[in-house]
Amino acid sequence: MNIHDEKILILDFGSQTTQLIARRIREQKVYCEIHPFSTPLETIKAMKPTGIVLSGGPRSVYDADAPLSDPALFDLGLPVLGICYGAQMMMQQLGGKVEQADKREFGKADLSVKFTEGIFAGLAIDTVHHQVWMSHGDRIEVLPEGFEATAVSDHSPYAALRHTTKPFVAVQFHPEVVHTLIGTDVLRNFIFDICNCSPSWTMSSFIESTVKGIQELVGGSKVICALSGGVDSSVTAALVHKAIGDQLTCIYVNNGLMRIGESEAILRFFREKTELKVIDVNATDFFLKKLDGVIDPEIKRKRIGLGFITIFEEEAGKLGEVNYLAQGTLYPDVIESVSFMGEAPIKSHHNVGGLPEVMKLELIEPLRELFKDEVRLLGLELGLPEEAIYRQPFPGPGLGIRIMGEVSKERLDILRQADVIVLEEMKKSGWYRKVWQSFAVLLPIQTVGVMGDERTYENVIALRSVDSRDAMTADWSKLPYDLLGTISNRIINEVRGVNRVVFDVSSKPPATIEWE
Ligand code: XMP
Repeated sequence: MNIHDEKILILDFGSQTTQLIARRIREQKVYCEIHPFSTPLETIKAMKPTGIVLSGGPRSVYDADAPLSDPALFDLGLPVLGICYGAQMMMQQLGGKVEQADKREFGKADLSVKFTEGIFAGLAIDTVHHQVWMSHGDRIEVLPEGFEATAVSDHSPYAALRHTTKPFVAVQFHPEVVHTLIGTDVLRNFIFDICNCSPSWTMSSFIESTVKGIQELVGGSKVICALSGGVDSSVTAALVHKAIGDQLTCIYVNNGLMRIGESEAILRFFREKTELKVIDVNATDFFLKKLDGVIDPEIKRKRIGLGFITIFEEEAGKLGEVNYLAQGTLYPDVIESVSFMGEAPIKSHHNVGGLPEVMKLELIEPLRELFKDEVRLLGLELGLPEEAIYRQPFPGPGLGIRIMGEVSKERLDILRQADVIVLEEMKKSGWYRKVWQSFAVLLPIQTVGVMGDERTYENVIALRSVDSRDAMTADWSKLPYDLLGTISNRIINEVRGVNRVVFDVSSKPPATIEWE
C-alpha cells in the first residue's frame, strides 16, 4: 500500500533480535521490512531493496537443515550486511569455511577496528577497544576470496569483514543490541554510506503515502472501524479518516466492562476535535446478561468476544453496504503470526478476533508496518491528545477478566473505584508511564478486618503492576513502599466493600499479566 522509494530488506534467520535491527534502521529514518530467509529471489527483486541485511539465527550454517537463502542474492549487485549467522552464511555461500568454535563467544567483547572506512567510518582504530555484544558458537575459519578482516576480537580474527571490491560487509557481533556501543554507527554507516540511503522516512512521509494508498484501494466504498479507546484503534481511525473522511464510520461498543473514563476521553476528542462519525452503542446490560453466572475465564472471554461481534454486526448492518474493516494490527503481530521453518507462530494476533471472516469484509491495516512507539509518534503527528497516546494497554474483555469469578454490577462498581485510585496514584507519583501496565484485580474471597471497633468481612483487591517490553514476558514492578502504602490506604478507606489490598509479585512466565 505504501510507496517506499528506498527500502532495506532484512532477511530473518530466526534471531530473537531481528526486530531490533528493523527498529534501529527505522530510527535512522530509513524504511525497512523483515522477510523470511526463504523469500524467493524473484520476490526480493520485485521489492527493489536498496540494501539487504542478513540477520542472526540460532542454527549452524553447516547443519544439514540450516536455513539458507538463495546464493544468487549475492549476484544482485546490492549491498549486503551479514550479522552473526548471516555473516557466517555469507562466508560459506561465497566459498569460505565456518566451523564450530572451541569456545563460544557470548556477551560483551572488545573489538579492535582495523580500518576506519565502510561500516567503521568515524570510529577510533587499533588501540581503542569498542564494546560489542557477541552470541555465537561457530567461527569463520577460512575467508572467501576477496574478503579481508576489518576488526578483530579476543576470540576472533574475523570479527568484522568486508569485500575489497563489492559492497559486502559482515560482522560477528550484533550491532542492533544496546550493549554494542558502536552499533548505531555501524548500521548508520551501512545504510547511509554503503547503501546510499537518505533519512527520508518520517511520520509525515508515512502519513502521505499511506493516505494515498488507502484512497486508491478504497475508492468510493464504505469502511468501518471498531474504536476501543486504545491507542492502536484510535490512530487507525484518525489515519483512515484523514484519507477518506466520512466514508469511514467508527463503532464504539460499550460493553460495560470499561474503566472509569477509559473511553469517554477519546470519544470526546473524536467528536469535538474531528469530523469522524462515531456510533456509540451502550450494550452494558447485554454483556452483563451474557456473563451472568459465568466463572470460567475462557467462557467469559468467548462470550465477551462473540457478544462484541453480534453488536458490531448489528450496527454495521444499519450502514448499508460496507466493504472494508480498518484494524489496528501492528508489525510485531504480523511477524509473530508468521511461522519460522514450519514451527508454530509465537502467537496468532487477536485484534477484533473473527470479525473480518464473520462479516466477509476486506481488511485495511494501515499500521501493519509499524512498531508501537512509531504508532504513538504517528498518533501525535495526527493530533491525538497525549493522554490517549500514552495510555497503558487494556484488554478487550476489560474488567470482566479482572474480576475473579462471577461478574456483576456490584463487583464492577467496587473494582472501578479501586482501579481509578490505582490509576490516579500511579499518575501522581510519575510511575504510570514507567510501567507497562498497572491495575486492580478483585478477588472473590472475603477476609476478616477491623474498622473502628467493628469486625469487617469484605473483599480483597490485588494490585498488579508489571514492567515489560512487549507483554511476551514481564516482571513485577518494584514500586516504592510509600506508593504501595498510599494506594492500599486509599482503597481500603475509600472503597466500600474492600478491607484488604495485596501486591502481586509474580513474573510472566510462569504467571500471566492478567489474572484470567
Ligand atoms: P497476558 O495476561 O496474556 O497479557 O500476560 C498480555 C497482554 O495482552 C493483554 N491482553 C489482551 N488484550 N484482548 C486484548 O486486546 C485480550 O483478550 C487480552 N488478554 C490479555 C494484557 O492486558 C497484556 O497487556
